[in-house]
Amino acid sequence: MISIGQKLGVLLAFSASSTLGQQVYISADGPSHRPNCESCNYTTTPTYHFTQFSFTQTETYRTATSRPVPSTTASYAPHFSDLSTLVPDISTTTWGNWDPNATAQATDSANPYGNAAWTAMWHAANVSNFTEVPLYTTTVSPTALPTSELILPPADYFGPTDCYTFPEDFIFGVAGSASQIEGAVAMEGKSPSLMEILPGAQGKSKDYVTNENYYLYKQDIERLASMGVKYYSFSIAWTRILPFALPGTPVNQQGLDHYSDLIDFILEKGMIPTVTMFHFDTPLQFFGGNNSQAADDALIGYVNGGYQNETFTDAFVNYGKILLTNYADRVPIWFTFNEPLLYCDNGKSVNNVIKAHAQLYHFYHEDVQGTGKLGIKFNDNFGVPKDPKNQSDLDATNHFNDFQLATFCNPIFLGIDYPEAFKITIPDYVPLTPEDLAYVGNTSDFLGIDPYTATVVSQPPEGVEACAKNSSSPNFPYCVTQETQNVFGWNIGYRSQSYVYITPTYLRTYLSYLYNTFKKPVLVSEFGFPVFAESESAAVEDQLFDSPRSQYYLSFMSEILKSIHEDGVNVMGALAWSFADNWEFGDYTQQFGLQYVNRTSQERRFKKSFFDLVDFVATRMGSS
Ligand SMILES: *[C@@H]1O[C@H](CO)[C@@H](O)[C@H](O)[C@H]1NC(C)=O
Ligand SMILES: *[C@@H]1O[C@H](CO)[C@@H](O)[C@H](O)[C@H]1NC(C)=O
Ligand SMILES: *[C@@H]1O[C@H](CO)[C@@H](O)[C@H](O)[C@H]1NC(C)=O
Ligand SMILES: *[C@@H]1O[C@H](CO)[C@@H](O)[C@H](O)[C@H]1NC(C)=O
Ligand SMILES: *[C@@H]1O[C@H](CO)[C@@H](O)[C@H](O)[C@H]1NC(C)=O
Ligand SMILES: *[C@@H]1O[C@H](CO)[C@@H](O)[C@H](O)[C@H]1NC(C)=O
Ligand SMILES: *[C@@H]1O[C@H](CO)[C@@H](O)[C@H](O)[C@H]1NC(C)=O
Ligand SMILES: *[C@@H]1O[C@H](CO)[C@@H](O)[C@H](O)[C@H]1NC(C)=O
Ligand SMILES: *[C@@H]1O[C@H](CO)[C@@H](O)[C@H](O)[C@H]1NC(C)=O
Ligand SMILES: *[C@@H]1O[C@H](CO)[C@@H](O)[C@H](O)[C@H]1NC(C)=O
Repeated sequence: MISIGQKLGVLLAFSASSTLGQQVYISADGPSHRPNCESCNYTTTPTYHFTQFSFTQTETYRTATSRPVPSTTASYAPHFSDLSTLVPDISTTTWGNWDPNATAQATDSANPYGNAAWTAMWHAANVSNFTEVPLYTTTVSPTALPTSELILPPADYFGPTDCYTFPEDFIFGVAGSASQIEGAVAMEGKSPSLMEILPGAQGKSKDYVTNENYYLYKQDIERLASMGVKYYSFSIAWTRILPFALPGTPVNQQGLDHYSDLIDFILEKGMIPTVTMFHFDTPLQFFGGNNSQAADDALIGYVNGGYQNETFTDAFVNYGKILLTNYADRVPIWFTFNEPLLYCDNGKSVNNVIKAHAQLYHFYHEDVQGTGKLGIKFNDNFGVPKDPKNQSDLDATNHFNDFQLATFCNPIFLGIDYPEAFKITIPDYVPLTPEDLAYVGNTSDFLGIDPYTATVVSQPPEGVEACAKNSSSPNFPYCVTQETQNVFGWNIGYRSQSYVYITPTYLRTYLSYLYNTFKKPVLVSEFGFPVFAESESAAVEDQLFDSPRSQYYLSFMSEILKSIHEDGVNVMGALAWSFADNWEFGDYTQQFGLQYVNRTSQERRFKKSFFDLVDFVATRMGSS
């Protein structure tokens, strides 16, 4: 382990000073060096001797340090009462819970937004197997954690040896998203979203109940505060705020109150909220009455998220304005979209995302006068060239990263046109005029990135250009060959239950690429590791002792520190994904959690990696 670390240290030192975006292999003979031993002088001839044996080994133990009780309340924008004129005069109402077995019919069918209309949406959604019974139907009061739950586990033998510290304003926290944790999908006025119908169509696990965080949020926050986590990153369900999605439709008072209470409770516990407005859970309205479209193969992303709909931009902006006017006083960090590329169907989808995002940025800083930060977060498993000395691999890699990132980041960060990679692949893209670019340019305060892993890239068999012209190609739309092995045939890192490999040595190059290309602070908005076969462990104790996840987190955090201190890259923060095992879009076996969740009792248990990660940060940041 040490030898690999040292060799890669050499590689990184080299690659940082050479062309960005390359992993360079330098051949070296013999076993690895031990520079830390150079000043030592140990004999190779031991002397053996007998001593009196006794069990004298002692162990120290520590407990996690909880968040301090807040002494001040920061404000990042005026209160809603001073901002309400910025949004249309909206009516608020409530709808209650949908019961598929109910025999009584709502009688208000003349009201387009009444209970009959709301219930009709649930019938039209045709959610399959809606039979899971939750444990909770009202908010559970939190209870303080006993010290016995907060005792640190035994440390792994090999650990970080660096001496860097995080900047004082470094954002460290944990993340989750609404559909993956909340459950209560048909309660308190929520209307159906894409997340409730997508897995149903494929016979996969549902999000109907998942972690019941909608009612257990106070206990979940209590647990995070007890661990000493400062930032909590969550997403708001559009379908809870606006069950009918569109501008002019009534706001759901229960949904508004829920997230307001969540924010207040986070603050009360000495933590700070960051909010993602939209994390894949599209309201079904944008499928125009034909929900089967949601299962269509998207031309660009994995899923047709409906963003191309002609009403989407205005509707998203209306929704975002409602969130900002209501919550911007208490929330300092905002993300408009989560990983938009993955749910973009076509060129219109991309264009709508960019324009909706830009409008909300202007609204936040110019109208709301928010003093916090508003940005956007992207996926992109960092493409690295299979052979960094091979121009054809380099071209393929640049194409890959450009397609995924520059497609959004060129306009949003640099105010320049889409990259060629996008334009040659999606020739019917919506052109951006000079006026568009002037309006859209420089509208993100940071670049959110979810750099879970790296991927090895080379040319596809038919070549990038030929593939880009052929949407039937299996390599379309990225039009590269992606592999998980390096040029010598080794896996690029330890494999997880999913697509993630532990690839810390590529992270620093990636952060440098992002910062130096798009010129804004980088916020690692998600990163995490689903330990291979973790859910199959017979004993919970074995799931809790998740050393591979610790190695993932500590190595990534160590590389982030090197990025900051050795490369001068402004990495604003890091949000670990996820604070608990949850619904991974139709699957519960890919466990990304820092906590285990018992699916029968909803009991949470801290995993070892949670303690290791928090301790790593606390050691390097103090208690601010
Ligand atoms: C190591 O110890 C040997 C024997 O005591 C001595 O001759 C040698 O100079 C030492 N080397 C260093 C680098 O101190
Ligand atoms: C509702 O979903 C079921 C599968 O769960 C399917 O068989 C049925 O055709 C669907 N009904 C409609 C009206 O789409
Ligand atoms: C509706 O009835 C079915 C069959 O009795 C039952 O399994 C299910 O839990 C019920 N659903 C709700 C939400 O009560
Ligand atoms: C509904 O549940 C049954 C029984 O568990 C299962 O066989 C079926 O595949 C499920 N259908 C869907 C669409 O999830
Ligand atoms: C777009 O969404 C609206 C609802 O906002 C819907 O009426 C319309 O049919 C949708 N268009 C398409 C093409 O699906
Ligand atoms: C609904 O969408 C599906 C999938 O795109 C399509 O096959 C079907 O023809 C559409 N139905 C109607 C009535 O438009
Ligand atoms: C670069 O890699 C491609 C395959 O991806 C190969 O065809 C070509 O010969 C390589 N070029 C060099 C100079 O090695
Ligand atoms: C981008 O916006 C920020 C914040 O408004 C401003 O400080 C900066 O000068 C702008 N940069 C460019 C290149 O316009
Ligand atoms: C496009 O790709 C498909 C699938 O690989 C292939 O069968 C077809 O020949 C390609 N078309 C062109 C014009 O290359
Ligand atoms: C999960 O909770 C249930 C209900 O309390 C309990 O019976 C079961 O033993 C728990 N499972 C594990 C693995 O702890």
